[in-house]
Amino acid sequence: MKLNIAVLSGDGIGPEIMKQGIAVMDAIAEKFGHEFTYYEAICGADAIDKVGDPFPETTYQICKDADAVLFAAVGHPKFDNDPTAKIRPEQGLLAMRKKLGLYANIRPIQTFRCLLHMSPLKEELVRDADFICIRELTGGMYFGDKYQDDDKAYDTNYYTRPEIERILKVGFDYAMKRKKHLTVVDKANVLASSRLWRQIAHEMEPMYPEVNVDYMFVDNASMRMIVEPSFFDVMVTENTFGDILTDEGSCISGSMGLLPSASIGSGTPVFEPVHGSWPQATGKNIANPLAEILSVAMLLEHFNMLEEGKLIRDAVDESLESNIRTPEIQIDGGTHYGTREVGEWIVSYIKNK
Ligand code: IPM
Ligand code: MN
Repeated sequence: MKLNIAVLSGDGIGPEIMKQGIAVMDAIAEKFGHEFTYYEAICGADAIDKVGDPFPETTYQICKDADAVLFAAVGHPKFDNDPTAKIRPEQGLLAMRKKLGLYANIRPIQTFRCLLHMSPLKEELVRDADFICIRELTGGMYFGDKYQDDDKAYDTNYYTRPEIERILKVGFDYAMKRKKHLTVVDKANVLASSRLWRQIAHEMEPMYPEVNVDYMFVDNASMRMIVEPSFFDVMVTENTFGDILTDEGSCISGSMGLLPSASIGSGTPVFEPVHGSWPQATGKNIANPLAEILSVAMLLEHFNMLEEGKLIRDAVDESLESNIRTPEIQIDGGTHYGTREVGEWIVSYIKNK
């Protein structure tokens, strides 16, 4: 298969983990006879420094024309510590989602057998956790009307029927592919927007008679994720709730450095780690490349390259089992492998399989 990939490395550890992601893609291309062509583009703080815009038009064009975007991370402390900064790296990410129409963010919450003890939750609780959070990504408070002066401020949690229908459809479709259990997470006891979500979900239920649907308030869902994560199969929720719940979900896996995600919609799909740019680790060769590498697996699986995706997942599992791990997940006394060394190990596993 031929694919044109837009490569957005962004800030902080982004370029280092991207390098490993691309090396893995190249190994797959060679093994399976695919042709992947990469088009690098700037974004985030890097792009603000270079051209004053965190998602410049040229980057948008490269993304728009590509078959997929492989993204790493954006963010820099000089903006985090300056609340008056008008232009921020994160705006680039939001602009990318909006302009590419990426309304569905797919975040799988999985565990790795040999890392169960890394979770702050008890091993017996997280052992069977395996669910997908589907987060609405282009609506809600992130994009609704905003206002701020010195005495008052507001954000509007605005959702329309078509926006709700299309994301719920993604939820129902995923449930059909999995254990047919969909949990709609909302705050319908307080929020009008949530009540519309719930109403529309009820209307859609008859179209998916095999799916067992339940409705859960977000406060309750956040608790249930901790006390019984194995309850969930597919969870669907609005933008802000999904942002919060997926960070919570990352604790189930034991490290943020392990979680990939896919964002899909009307335009070019984007594949990216859930974690951020970890500026303090920049250039130190200590960041875990696995979330980026698993994002590559999700990219390939999106284009139905299932065997290729599986090989990457096997390589990742095997690297963890063999203790080829970056410091944050290494066992006591174990050798600390660098970003590069973990990537190289995975590449050679793929080549030799
Ligand atoms: C995420 C991030 C972003 C979000 C930030 C960086 C704007 O936290 O992808 O979850 O809030 O969506
Ligand atoms: Mn987040």
